[in-house]
Amino acid sequence: MTASGADRKVVLTALKPTGEAHAGNYVGMFRPALSSASEHPEYQFLYFIADYHALTKVRDPERFRHLCYDNAAAWIALGLDTHNAILYRQSDVPEVFELAWLLSCVTPKGLMNRAHAYKAAVAANRRRSLAEEDAGINMGLYNYPILMAADILLFQTDLVPVGKDQVQHVEFARDIAGSFNSAYGPLLKLPQHVVGETIPGLDGRKMSASLGNTIPLFAPPEELRKRVYQVRTDSSAPDAPKDPTTSTLFLIYEQFATAQQTQAMRERYLAGRVSWEEAKRELSDILAASLAGPRRLYHHLMSDTRQLDEAFAEGGRRARTLAGPLMERVRKAIGRL
Ligand code: TRP
Repeated sequence: MTASGADRKVVLTALKPTGEAHAGNYVGMFRPALSSASEHPEYQFLYFIADYHALTKVRDPERFRHLCYDNAAAWIALGLDTHNAILYRQSDVPEVFELAWLLSCVTPKGLMNRAHAYKAAVAANRRRSLAEEDAGINMGLYNYPILMAADILLFQTDLVPVGKDQVQHVEFARDIAGSFNSAYGPLLKLPQHVVGETIPGLDGRKMSASLGNTIPLFAPPEELRKRVYQVRTDSSAPDAPKDPTTSTLFLIYEQFATAQQTQAMRERYLAGRVSWEEAKRELSDILAASLAGPRRLYHHLMSDTRQLDEAFAEGGRRARTLAGPLMERVRKAIGRL
């Protein structure tokens, strides 16, 4: 018998489309999410495009549209199986925004004051000695964690795989669920986070769209090569032994190469049998080869976005069907029904 209903574990995660899908997203999000979906057919997987979250940053409508499609095409091109996973766009599920408001009414403002992203924006204003410490900070940024809590709590989510930088948001979702439950009774499930891996970007800091140091997943091989050649390396001579554990090139290489290739490369690093030039060339080759299939499918999907519109329509329907019963209970609990 297959698990269903309340006893079926729900795993939910998302990306906000503020940049094209990159190798860091692949290692930290797409790949673990897709492999855990194929290893656990008994769980319910929900993957979505947090499109309205991106609006705190993206203001260009054309770019916004492009990035939403890019994100969806990435999920599908990398092997999402829509039989055991639901892929949807956040804005196709209006219940998310309704729940976000209801949650904001039980969320202490002080909790949001402690959010890392908000505090970092305030700290940046202070460093620039701006008279108004909230200068340039929109309410979307401030409310971001509440919308994210709604994303998670709407589906009685058990597990939320996220990058390290998102852990606080999942903790907030737990706190907010607790506030709601103490006001209205034990309706909302408290989610747990699962932290994914990260890789360094071109400059050695964590690969991230906002740092502009990414390797895009679906760029043509020449572009991949160009990016890889921008990876910062030290001045070690071609035949000097090199430390693989601190090399950005190696840390990315091992994510895309086979175990044997990785072992061989590790030995060459340690023995001084690989120059930075060779390491860059071989990383470019591995990336181009391992992403060739997904790249073709990605471009096929992006060339006629009607397929993606259909995927959104179908995913949105399925997500709303799942969300409906809880939302009914929530409306009853607050006294609306
Ligand atoms: N904040 C996440 C990011 O920056 C995206 C996101 C929105 C998310 N809602 C979520 C992630 C719910 C996990 C669960 O990419």
